[in-house]
Amino acid sequence: MLSYAFLSFLVARGLATDWIDYPADGTATLTTYTLPENFIAACGCTADSTHYPTAAMSEMAYGSSAAYGPGCGRCFNITLLNTFNSDPPFYPEEHPSVVVKITDLCPSGGNGWCSATANKPNAGGAYVNFDLAWPSNSIPDDFFPSNASLYGYTDFGVWNVSYQSVDCMNDWEGAQNAAALGSAADVGSVCCPANPSGNDTCPSYSDANGIPPDTTSASSSAMLLIPDSWLSTVLCFTMLLVYFGVGGV
Ligand SMILES: *[C@@H]1O[C@H](CO)[C@@H](O)[C@H](O)[C@H]1NC(C)=O
Ligand SMILES: *[C@@H]1O[C@H](CO)[C@@H](O)[C@H](O)[C@H]1NC(C)=O
Ligand SMILES: *[C@@H]1O[C@H](CO)[C@@H](O)[C@H](O)[C@H]1NC(C)=O
Ligand SMILES: *[C@@H]1O[C@H](CO)[C@@H](O)[C@H](O)[C@H]1NC(C)=O
Repeated sequence: MLSYAFLSFLVARGLATDWIDYPADGTATLTTYTLPENFIAACGCTADSTHYPTAAMSEMAYGSSAAYGPGCGRCFNITLLNTFNSDPPFYPEEHPSVVVKITDLCPSGGNGWCSATANKPNAGGAYVNFDLAWPSNSIPDDFFPSNASLYGYTDFGVWNVSYQSVDCMNDWEGAQNAAALGSAADVGSVCCPANPSGNDTCPSYSDANGIPPDTTSASSSAMLLIPDSWLSTVLCFTMLLVYFGVGGV
């Protein structure tokens, strides 16, 4: 009984300390993803939140592997610094910035940009990745600086950025629309504070419910869509043929 309690304590501690305690202001990487308008993402923020700049945050900084986490609802002023995956790196003359509200979780799978853990930064050396919902009606299409004549393309995919924690009510464009704040009604497991600050920050859904084991297999990205049961049926059938073939001789 005592050892079980001690073990639970260790497991609980392990879970709690796995999350990344990122600084209020710092550098991060930024990628983009497609978020359909009015889509209610992991935090359960209102559909109207998608009419303003939003982003998903990398899992271990977001603070949960499912549903809401402490990152939900937070607002960050993100400024584009440079690209580093391009050859050569691109240091634009302009450094546009955007204030986003975190409404979604960017899963940590594989070696992706959202895969940083407390002990291992992502491929850009960052512990936080913001996955910006873009294109977005609330962000100009030419938001990202580029130099097509030099690179032959305009979408660099990933940026090195600086970020500052900001007050949503003062700085997020959506704060002027009450319908864009808070969480959607009648949806389970939601938490999206208008302006999380200490006493109303979302808890970690995963700490309360446990972090599910990583059940993805090494070949999960392969295009093989044949169910295992079907495959083993074929194998068994083949073995029967071999058996009868041999038996018939
Ligand atoms: C990101 O920008 C910071 C600040 O300029 C710099 O120190 C860091 O090396 C940059 N990281 C990458 C991957 O370009
Ligand atoms: C693009 O890069 C070329 C070569 O470095 C430079 O001469 C030109 O000014 C750049 N254009 C812009 C818009 O940055
Ligand atoms: C965001 O950062 C940029 C660049 O540092 C700054 O000019 C701008 O005033 C900041 N915006 C807010 C709302 O903090
Ligand atoms: C939460 O914090 C805010 C601002 O610090 C304060 O005004 C409010 O009374 C606090 N609410 C509770 C329930 O402690």
